[in-house]
Amino acid sequence: MKRNRKTAYKESEGEDTVKETYSTEEAIKRWDANAEAYTKGYTEEGDLHREVFLNPCLFTLIGDSTDKKILDAGCGEGYLSRKLAHDGASVTAVDYSEKMLEIAKEKTSSSVDVTSFHGNCETLPFLEDSSFDLIVSNMVMQDLSDHESALREMYRLLIDGGSFIFSILHPCFVTPESGWEKNDQGEKLHWNVDRYFYEGVYEQRGIGENDKILYYHRTLSTYMNSILQTGFMVEKVEEPTPSKEILEKYPAFEEDFRCADFIVFKVVKK
Ligand SMILES: C[S@@+](CC[C@H](N)C(=O)[O-])C[C@H]1O[C@@H](n2cnc3c(N)ncnc32)[C@H](O)[C@@H]1O
Repeated sequence: MKRNRKTAYKESEGEDTVKETYSTEEAIKRWDANAEAYTKGYTEEGDLHREVFLNPCLFTLIGDSTDKKILDAGCGEGYLSRKLAHDGASVTAVDYSEKMLEIAKEKTSSSVDVTSFHGNCETLPFLEDSSFDLIVSNMVMQDLSDHESALREMYRLLIDGGSFIFSILHPCFVTPESGWEKNDQGEKLHWNVDRYFYEGVYEQRGIGENDKILYYHRTLSTYMNSILQTGFMVEKVEEPTPSKEILEKYPAFEEDFRCADFIVFKVVKK
C-alpha cells in the first residue's frame, strides 16, 4: 500500500513538517518568496480549486454586493477583490505580503474600485471601527498565527449585522498527516486522517522549496469556539462540493464527494 498525501492544492508524498519556532514575520517572508509561483496559474477566477469549490460557495453566501463596502482580508493577488468590485462593491484589500500586493496592483486597473493596503489581518489599526458591511477572507485564517486576534479585528471592523465570510482548509480532513491510501495499482482506496489533535504550525508540502509556506492546523472545535467567543453568531457553514456543471467540465473532481477539502463559515456580528 502506498500513502500519498493530497494537500488541497496538489499531491505530494510524505508528511507535513512541524516547525517549533515561527512568527508572523517568518510566515510572510515565505509568502513573499512564493508569491509568484503560488499565483502563476491564477486566472480571473483564481486557481482551479477556487473556480470549482470556493467561488460558487462564497458568491452564494455573499449575495448581492452592489454598493456594499467590503474588506478582502488577505487578498493575495486580488482576483476576489476584482470580482467583487465588478459586481458593484467598493472594496478595500489588505495583505501582509508586499510581494502579493505588488502582483495585485499590477493586475488591478486603476478604474476598478479596489483600494489596497499593506497590513496584518491580526491588527489593522488604520481601518476604522464599523466601516464594512461585509468582510471576506479566502483561505487566509489558517495562515495566521493568531486567528483569535484576527476574528476580534474583523468583528470590530464590521457594522452591526455585518457578515464575515471565510474559507479554510477543512481541519477534519486536511490534517498534518492525511492522504490517500492507494493499492499497488495506484487506485485510491480511502482517505487517511491522522494527527488531528496536533495543533501547531506546519510547513505545507508542495509549495516552496527551502521556504515552504506555513499553515496553522487547528481543530474544528478551536475554530468554532473562537468564533463564538468573539461574539459572532454562526449563520451558515458549508463544505463545498463541485456542481453538476463543474463536473461536466472537470470530471476528475468526482472524487471530492468522498471527503471535503474546504469549509466555509458565514458569521454575523450580533
Ligand atoms: C492562501 S493565500 C490566499 C490569497 C487570496 N485570498 C486568494 O484566495 O487567492 C493567503 C494570503 O494571506 C496572506 N497573509 C498571510 N498572513 C497574513 C496576515 N497576517 N495578514 C494579512 N495577510 C496575510 C498571504 O500573504 C497570502 O496572500
